[in-house]
Amino acid sequence: MSVEVAGVQLRSPVIAASGTFGYGVEFEDIVSLDRIGAFVTKGLSREPMAGNPTPRIIETPAGMMNAIGLQNMGVRAFVEEKLPKLRQINGALVIANIFGFTVEDCLEVIRVLNDAEGIAMYELNASCPNTSHGGMVFGTDPELLKELVSRTKEVAKRPLMVKLSPNVTSIGQMAKVAEEAGADAVSLVNTFLSMAIDVETRRPRIANVTAGLSGPAIKPIAVRMVYEAFKAVKIPVVGMGGILRAEDAIEFMMAGATAVQVGTASYADPRAVENIANGMRKWCSSRQVERVRGLTGTVALQ
Ligand SMILES: Cc1cc2nc3c(=O)[nH]c(=O)nc-3n(C[C@H](O)[C@H](O)[C@H](O)COP(=O)(O)O)c2cc1C
Repeated sequence: MSVEVAGVQLRSPVIAASGTFGYGVEFEDIVSLDRIGAFVTKGLSREPMAGNPTPRIIETPAGMMNAIGLQNMGVRAFVEEKLPKLRQINGALVIANIFGFTVEDCLEVIRVLNDAEGIAMYELNASCPNTSHGGMVFGTDPELLKELVSRTKEVAKRPLMVKLSPNVTSIGQMAKVAEEAGADAVSLVNTFLSMAIDVETRRPRIANVTAGLSGPAIKPIAVRMVYEAFKAVKIPVVGMGGILRAEDAIEFMMAGATAVQVGTASYADPRAVENIANGMRKWCSSRQVERVRGLTGTVALQ
């Protein structure tokens, strides 16, 4: 079941996605962190953030919309309060998700994390507005993405996985930009921009007006994007978007993913990450697939 992403060995290809697994320790009693592939922390910023006003999460047919607004305790509090507990869980693989509203913000988060022990990799969230460029999202502009990735890569003392925004015309192009700027892996997709209105009150159903759509509703689009990214780059692609069952994860791997992440499914079942990995193992053994990593990019096109 093991796979390798950017030089890091994972015991299973199924990773808990950022923002849906807290800081890991909250799930300690329910999920054995040392048994899942890895988990990605909630996005960490230079300073603590309170996030957006409520309502900021709603259920939709086959998915959910959220505008949490990147609420988090800030990178320093994470290092002081959460990381020591995570280090005690032997074998837990921690991927730190980072973001900032300027390149310098991101560099500062990485500098703080560089000095801390117990982190295997960084995941840089490129779906964040750049306040020094009029709020343009880093991951939707090739030049901004290039600058963000190349500068963070210079500072990062750990492998750098860049999490791409799906709200772009060509995901292949953005994956290539990230690779050329030095990314060790790319992960996709983050949530899709969306909006919902309560027709009785005529008010947006999310206080922030727009929100990110995740869950099974986005899966076919995410699979297509993983396939396009896989064709565009040589670095590993980590796929996600609506994975609920083992077969969904296998589909992403066949499209080109080296590993997968599971987000929204953990809301319905906190053990989803572990269950999906177990299901993949069974799927492989019942079909004489010896190594799960052999599935990557094996979609049969003719
Ligand atoms: C409530 C919630 C919070 C999220 N927070 C973050 C975050 O802080 N950083 C990030 O990179 N992605 C964040 N995401 C995106 C997920 O990690 C994932 O990319 C997306 O939800 C698609 O996967 P899924 O359909 O399996 O949920 C969040 C998603 C949800 C639902």
